[in-house]
Amino acid sequence: MPADTAKIAMTPLLVARAELAAEDIKLFELRPPTANELNEFTPGAHISVKTPCGEIRKYSLCNDPAERDYYQIAVKREAGGRGGSRSMFDALAAGDTLLTSQPRNDFPLAASPAGYTLIAGGIGITPILSMARHLKATGGRFKLYYLTRSRETTAFHAELNRPQFRGNVTIHHDDGNPDKALDLWPVLEKPRGHVYCCGPRGLMMAVRDMTGHWSSAAVHFEAFQEPEKNAVDNKPFKVTIKSTGKEVEVAADTSILEALRASGRTVPSSCESGSCGSCKTRLVSGDVDHRDLVLTEQEKSNHIMVCVSRAATGDLVIDI
Ligand code: FES
Repeated sequence: MPADTAKIAMTPLLVARAELAAEDIKLFELRPPTANELNEFTPGAHISVKTPCGEIRKYSLCNDPAERDYYQIAVKREAGGRGGSRSMFDALAAGDTLLTSQPRNDFPLAASPAGYTLIAGGIGITPILSMARHLKATGGRFKLYYLTRSRETTAFHAELNRPQFRGNVTIHHDDGNPDKALDLWPVLEKPRGHVYCCGPRGLMMAVRDMTGHWSSAAVHFEAFQEPEKNAVDNKPFKVTIKSTGKEVEVAADTSILEALRASGRTVPSSCESGSCGSCKTRLVSGDVDHRDLVLTEQEKSNHIMVCVSRAATGDLVIDI
């Protein structure tokens, strides 16, 4: 996702390995140019990188955090994106240098003696795989459900089919047919442990709907940049801050959060993808297109997550 480059300290890492992991997915191994260890990370962490086309993108680290000498990321080539993933896929090769940030984790594993249900859709496997590798190495209890279109689009297929993951991993292909989607209700019907889900928004919304009876503290989502379902339909609108009367214009290609920042107002934020809950803001009035994975139905009447949600019609009044 786009990020504010001025605020991110970046250091160069060497692309030690670049190879195709599945159709339209490339795996990169990043190592320090000297023999130093890298900064520690925890399962679910990501780094920001400066892609060859100059865009900043966040990528989850896929490797076991116990491995301190390299970071592994996997990049899906998004034909319809702003070009960041395309340039990573098409232009980055072994031997190149990549500017990267320190790891940061907006999707950390909570302690869960009752175990974990990990659900990954497509390239959403990346943070989930780091969790699975870590839990496997440390004796944690988990089940991983990995949902993809086909064998050809399934990164890490061989590893996840190894005997070490037997009994832990279910890989399901739907051939792009919603009628063939795996029914997750039997998995989620009885709350147990913690659920971690990363994948396309439709999958995360379905998991959120099926976990409405779980404690919200036990269900975790990580959204990633995908060609926004509504991006081409986004309309500009105006946000008024009730306490000051200040009006902020939100352009079609800008989030409310970005527009507020540009106007000098700061709202706490972290993931900027509607999944962490930091940017929850009071909604005074207006018709909202809620695009987050955080707010309950009840909260939606008087709150908005300003990093992703927009006006559905007309303008909005918020208070910060
Ligand atoms: S910044 Fe995470 S939900 Fe908005």
